[in-house]
Amino acid sequence: MLSRRSFFRKLLDNPRARELFMNSLAVGEADSAVGLDRVAEHIADPIVARKVYRHYAEEVKHARLFGQHLEKTLGVSPKPLPPELDYEQYVRRYEMGTPASRLDDPTPFSDDELITFFVGCKAGEERAMAEMGDLVRDLGADPETVEVLEIIHGDEIRHVSYATEELNRLADAGNRERVVQELRRARRAEARAHRHVSRAFLGRLMEILEVPRAIRFFAGLSIDVQCVLRILSPGGLDRPLVENPMPVPEGPRGQGDPAESA
Ligand SMILES: [Fe+2]
Ligand SMILES: [Fe+2]
Repeated sequence: MLSRRSFFRKLLDNPRARELFMNSLAVGEADSAVGLDRVAEHIADPIVARKVYRHYAEEVKHARLFGQHLEKTLGVSPKPLPPELDYEQYVRRYEMGTPASRLDDPTPFSDDELITFFVGCKAGEERAMAEMGDLVRDLGADPETVEVLEIIHGDEIRHVSYATEELNRLADAGNRERVVQELRRARRAEARAHRHVSRAFLGRLMEILEVPRAIRFFAGLSIDVQCVLRILSPGGLDRPLVENPMPVPEGPRGQGDPAESA
């Protein structure tokens, strides 16, 4: 049986597999930034708006870090993903987070809309944090990649935490039941979206690496089982993992904001 560690070693040794892997990470990070700057414009509280804008800047930074790493190690630039690896299309299909069409309406978000945004944000960031943590462990044979992943993992922990902080604030303001209900819905939607992309991604990688069909079958099954477990047990509203996760200057956003040069 192929262990996780030997699978990732094979992946690193194969230029096609390595490119698919790094490119997916680079494009995934760039896609996760899309719309966050516009969300920030819909938030009436200037401090919260700056936090969301800082989040945007950090996701752009993640895409840049992976893109630079791709160019440095493989001499290629990030390129668009095939449709079956496009996580964002599944996020839209399963209605996780703020619908893109809402951003065309300049009216500030209501509390319910803030909840919708932050539960989607938290569900996506929780998965990103777990995935980065796993990759840091699995890619021990490639310290240069691990260095990039560790920076990003640290940011994802803060992203989960600031979304959790905002949701706790909204829950304390009399919206607890709705926050918990919507968070569970968003986590279930995320589990479904992630299952599609994971199956397609692992299928492609295993084909490149010529992994036997039986192993591919069980790998797919394991993704399905993880998805079902997440749907059956979506958890509740927890506390932030770190304190003061998204420090921003007070007042409206302006030039020289450290968030903008993150
Ligand atoms: Fe990220
Ligand atoms: Fe993030």
